[in-house]
Amino acid sequence: MQNHIDRVLLGRGAISDRVRALGDELARDLTGELVKEGSPADATDRIVFVPVMTGALVFTADLIRHLPLPIAMRLVSVSSYPGAATQSKGATLKSYLSDDLAGRHVVIIDDILDTGETMRMLRGLVEDRRPASVRACVLLKKQLGKPAVAEAEHVGFEIPDEFVVGYGLDYDGHYRNLPDICVLKREAYEG
Ligand code: IMP
Ligand code: MG
Repeated sequence: MQNHIDRVLLGRGAISDRVRALGDELARDLTGELVKEGSPADATDRIVFVPVMTGALVFTADLIRHLPLPIAMRLVSVSSYPGAATQSKGATLKSYLSDDLAGRHVVIIDDILDTGETMRMLRGLVEDRRPASVRACVLLKKQLGKPAVAEAEHVGFEIPDEFVVGYGLDYDGHYRNLPDICVLKREAYEG
């Protein structure tokens, strides 16, 4: 399996620096929201993170440790790349999305924005719950030849259109535990 790795695209040091910066960015924006509505910075029950399992697990674990604000967590599960697929098959919610988002500041966290189908679906479902604000934070965004169908306000890295694994991202359930983000060899998924 490990010999299906082509090369390291983003090393653990670069990832760690960028995740810290994203945390600062988010903290600044969310503090701005709290100030705007007159809530104290230590107000509980104002901010809810919605990480998309399982890809965003590692990223979320690192990111939230750079946030000095009280946050609640509501995990969701989405399926878009069933099994060994490397092309999105459209996103479907595989879990319950909490109904306690009304009036709160919601941050959707995902590992990667590719076609944007996952983000479009989730943003819609979150908006339906009438939150005070919604923003999306993704570690990676693929540079496709065309615009994605939904965007993220916070993006860690723009990457070329290649299939990547590691730091939470998988191929057919493997490689999530690699500390670096690596490009998978095409021969691993092309016949
Ligand atoms: P989208 O719905 O096409 O934007 O795809 C987003 C989802 O597909 C992410 O949540 C990932 O789980 C998965 N995904 C997209 N590209 C990759 C990749 O290169 N490696 C691993 N997973 C990916
Ligand atoms: Mg995913």
